[in-house]
Amino acid sequence: MKAIKIHEFGKPEVLKYEDIPEPKPSPGEIRIRIIAAGVNPMDWKIRSGYISELPLPTIMGLDVAGIVDAVGEGEVSFHVGDEVFAKVSIGQGGYAEYTVVNSTQVAQKPKSIGFIESAAIPTAGLAAWQSLFDIAGLDKGQSVLIHGAAGGVGTFAVQFAKWKGAYVIGTASSENAQFLKSIGADEAIDYKNQRFEDVMSNLDVVLDTIGGDTFERSWGVLKPGGFLVTTVTSIPEGNPEKYGVRAKTLMTRPDGKELAQIAAIIDEKKIKPIVTTVLPLTDARKAHEMSESHHARGKIVLRVAEDPK
Ligand SMILES: NC(=O)c1ccc[n+]([C@@H]2O[C@H](COP(=O)([O-])OP(=O)(O)OC[C@H]3O[C@@H](n4cnc5c(N)ncnc54)[C@H](OP(=O)(O)O)[C@@H]3O)[C@@H](O)[C@H]2O)c1
Repeated sequence: MKAIKIHEFGKPEVLKYEDIPEPKPSPGEIRIRIIAAGVNPMDWKIRSGYISELPLPTIMGLDVAGIVDAVGEGEVSFHVGDEVFAKVSIGQGGYAEYTVVNSTQVAQKPKSIGFIESAAIPTAGLAAWQSLFDIAGLDKGQSVLIHGAAGGVGTFAVQFAKWKGAYVIGTASSENAQFLKSIGADEAIDYKNQRFEDVMSNLDVVLDTIGGDTFERSWGVLKPGGFLVTTVTSIPEGNPEKYGVRAKTLMTRPDGKELAQIAAIIDEKKIKPIVTTVLPLTDARKAHEMSESHHARGKIVLRVAEDPK
């Protein structure tokens, strides 16, 4: 099968399109014939050597949508022919024609959308879901400020928070202000021209997908007992106590049950994945360059095979 692998860490040029053997599913695993693979900032971070102890060579990619074409011994949850999507573990391979994955990481894909949009969901969708609901416990009537609201995680977070009945404020550049409103934000703050802490205070939740100065300035806009969740940085010791709030760094878990919940609200037409760029698998380098710009809107997806329908 074809796959995009790296044999060394480095720039996009280290991404190699190669022939490798097809993987075989072990007990508890299923094999997916991949139709589309989502691209995440974690992919280029891994490619650049962010996880220096990662054994090489490795296949790139974390998010897939495709068709089950083999099941491991004893596997009963999925059957050959099922249309599924999954967050695979690092090294299992998403930028490839086939992958094997533990069935607990897999869900039936939303029926109302295609493989391309389904492949955009796993990492970013789970990151938003787990940050807002599993960690911060965001609820109806609460307020949430989402930094990086126009990005992969942010576009899911804005829609999930709105679906939950929260008051949603997103930060993005002015070019994305109307876009944020179109996906459900009540307010958009142009981070280039306005300091969010000048206009926001007493919030229930802040979701930070940016880090640095944005993360540091976020402590003061929470109400006492509020929650700061960040996808990108560690929590300085003593800060939650100092500001009288709670805080946690997200580590996204693969979770087929949560993917099934997300699929259900997509099929109810309450939210939709925002895919702005689709490239062939052979253009993985270009996909990484676009993601590394830090200004991609929504998601970038690689087309691995034609949709059989
Ligand atoms: N811990 C975990 O488990 C986990 C899971 C998922 C993601 N992450 C991390 O979370 C981060 C975000 O991921 P992502 O997929 O959402 O990234 P992304 O799609 O690449 O984010 C791009 C977006 O960031 C916005 N942006 C850039 N600088 C900004 C700023 N200073 N303030 C507000 N918005 C800004 C851009 O909007 P404009 O073009 O309008 O500037 C753009 O829409 C990444 O670092 C990723 O690795 C971590």
